[in-house]
Amino acid sequence: MKNVLVTGGAGFIGSCFVRMILDNHDDTFVLNLDSITYAGNLENLDGYQNNPNHCFVKGSICDAQLVANLIDKYEITSIVNFAAESHVDRSLTNPGIFIETNVQGTLTLLNAAVEKKIEKFLQVSTDEVYGSLGEDGLFTEQTPLSPNSPYSASKASADMLVAAFGHSYGLSYNITRCSNNYGEFQFPEKMIPLMINNALHDKDLPVYGDGLQIRDWLWVYDHCTAIWEVLTHGKSGEVYNVGGNNEKTNIEVIELILSKLGKDKSLIKHVTDRAGHDRRYAIDSSKIKQQLGWSPTVTFEEQIEKTIEWYLENTTWLKNVASGDYLNYYNEMYEDR
Ligand code: NAD
Ligand code: TYD
Repeated sequence: MKNVLVTGGAGFIGSCFVRMILDNHDDTFVLNLDSITYAGNLENLDGYQNNPNHCFVKGSICDAQLVANLIDKYEITSIVNFAAESHVDRSLTNPGIFIETNVQGTLTLLNAAVEKKIEKFLQVSTDEVYGSLGEDGLFTEQTPLSPNSPYSASKASADMLVAAFGHSYGLSYNITRCSNNYGEFQFPEKMIPLMINNALHDKDLPVYGDGLQIRDWLWVYDHCTAIWEVLTHGKSGEVYNVGGNNEKTNIEVIELILSKLGKDKSLIKHVTDRAGHDRRYAIDSSKIKQQLGWSPTVTFEEQIEKTIEWYLENTTWLKNVASGDYLNYYNEMYEDR
């Protein structure tokens, strides 16, 4: 039996990881630590709350005493750190909270991991730490870190701390750097669910600048299987890039959403570009494919259709999340420590 501390397990990707483990790995117990910021939502774990292999605790990764107590109490053997402030636009208006959660919070977990002799620390990072690409080339694990936004700078800082703890204290660790994820339960501030939500309400779709920026999209579940492979078979001290080989311009994705929803392109509204907007991200995933045998299970074309359908079938979830009503509702369910 493995006891894994998953942080940020009520967010978009973390909750998918928790559901994936509970569905597929009976020998694994998940302790889910999430402070339930605006982006965290226990509704993402509906049907999984009472699973005997899952325990949810509302609390922050910045709380050293809580983290230490939980590791002892639940005999935690590994940590997967998803918890983060994750939205670039928010980092441009309020960078401080990104340093607090993404850097200070990771440091708190690392200190505990060393003190409690955790067997594996997996830091869930992002391709954004590499900066922006020109028209050609791909990010490899050797690409120098060159973050451009406060968000990516905070994630790069955390990555460097993780590696330093490996080097200085012998912590066994991995870092995964994934491209943009899409799928069910994504908070509608991120491009795909935001555009779906706006289009459903015939609201303008705000396209930053010319909309020709490129992202390399990967289905969230495929990201989670990659993290599982790295957690269970990754060689200590290694970084693994994870990507979908699905480079699309933003405008291509937005037009696809409009066409699937039967809405008119006139909803597209070009607005002022994001400050310091990274032009292109694209990942070389050959290392994780060759060394760990991971590969994506779906194509973007088929899964984006299913994703749009999921949002159409879950308009109540979308409405609750977008309005923030769910916070009051679910506050009653939280078991405070
Ligand atoms: P998200 O914003 O949907 O979820 C973040 C979760 O962390 C939320 O549940 C939130 O409540 C929780 N959290 C925030 N501060 C916390 C704290 N101090 N203590 C405990 N929990 C806290 O983010 P996401 O899109 O699911 O991203 C998860 C991770 O994956 C992040 O580390 C992000 O950098 C990384 N990542 C995201 C993408 C992407 O496309 N979304 C791509 C690559 C990597
Ligand atoms: P986002 O989902 O915020 O992810 P990231 O910035 O981490 O890549 O944005 C994806 C792309 O979509 C990015 O190039 C910015 C663009 N974008 C818009 O054009 N309009 C929007 O309203 C949002 C949220 C994003």
